[in-house]
Amino acid sequence: MRLETLAVHAGGEPDAETGAIAPPIHLATTFRHGPAGERQAGFEYVREGNPTQDRLETALAALEQGAAALAFGSGMAAMTALLESLPAGSTLLIPLDCYTGLRVLAEEFLPHSGIRTQRVDMTDSAAVAAALDAGTGADAIWLETPSNPQLQVTDIAAIAALARSRGARLFCDNTFATPALQQPLTLGAAVVMHSTTKYFGGHSDVMGGALVFARRDDDYERVAHRRHVTGGVLAPFNAWLTLRGLRSLPARMSWHCANARRIADFLATHARVAAVNYPGLATHVGHAVAARQMRDFGAMLSFRVAGGRDAALTAAGRLRLIHNATSLGGCETLIEHRASVEGAHPTSPQDLLRLSVGLEHVDDLIADLAQALDF
Ligand SMILES: Cc1ncc(COP(=O)(O)O)c(C=O)c1O
Repeated sequence: MRLETLAVHAGGEPDAETGAIAPPIHLATTFRHGPAGERQAGFEYVREGNPTQDRLETALAALEQGAAALAFGSGMAAMTALLESLPAGSTLLIPLDCYTGLRVLAEEFLPHSGIRTQRVDMTDSAAVAAALDAGTGADAIWLETPSNPQLQVTDIAAIAALARSRGARLFCDNTFATPALQQPLTLGAAVVMHSTTKYFGGHSDVMGGALVFARRDDDYERVAHRRHVTGGVLAPFNAWLTLRGLRSLPARMSWHCANARRIADFLATHARVAAVNYPGLATHVGHAVAARQMRDFGAMLSFRVAGGRDAALTAAGRLRLIHNATSLGGCETLIEHRASVEGAHPTSPQDLLRLSVGLEHVDDLIADLAQALDF
């Protein structure tokens, strides 16, 4: 079945009891069992699993072409569960440009679990190979492509081949692309991670995270056990909202991408814009790789405003339709000066604004950007 069809139907069997086409939300925290704990319908306690979450996990696994999925209360809960289940003494390679949360997790928390991290330029296969061959090597590699917020593109198949040849596992944050545009498991990744808070939910109203595993193997069992014990599960209502959102994911992504392409073209020729980071532009250094591994180029972009930090803040402050807000992947277009929200040690350039292109009419968005940049 094609992706658009899977998105509409996976995990969507009509309710067995009533025939309802929309799935019921099971809010029960506990399920009846026999006197010796015998399960009657597969469920026991909500921290381990529940029928609404099961449906979502079935749909997520189908969309990423994985064997199994685990849903979490947030993207960070998913990321943390996976990375903290690496054995103590492991070395993890992470990208130079990546979501701030990963950087903070790597610096402040993973060392307590005996996990060492090293930042590597993932867009440079030779640098990754060198890191894998140095010292005691690496046990796992984390990719984020396109990356947040600089839209760097990594060749997933190339890094997967390097990882395989050195016995390391490859994990990929697919939040920006979504499976509608890119399926890392088909390119050799072992696990895909999502902040479903973004495009899966799609409406800026539900938080969640997910891991999708290429195989239902020991790694899957270890992380499932960790989630059960440490409790980073998704609430049933949030599972339901996420499932509802993903039904329209491929359709929304087409519109998001078409809008982003037009906006990238507009910004690329604007005198106030020093540079545009969008993999769909032929001038982007990762364009060829993105064209090979993505169906379309996504709806996240960032741009650098000529005149530095002050000019970037002035432009962001002049927008009328586009909101200044964090997060991404919703119907509404959002802009953010990332350096202002990355904590004490920001890594984003001070003149950079990140744009999550929404589903409005693109001419209205371009008009708003044009007036904001006209100062
Ligand atoms: C690429 C990426 N990964 C992970 C996360 C973390 O997800 P959450 O906010 O759902 O915990 C984010 C959040 O912005 C993100 O942009």
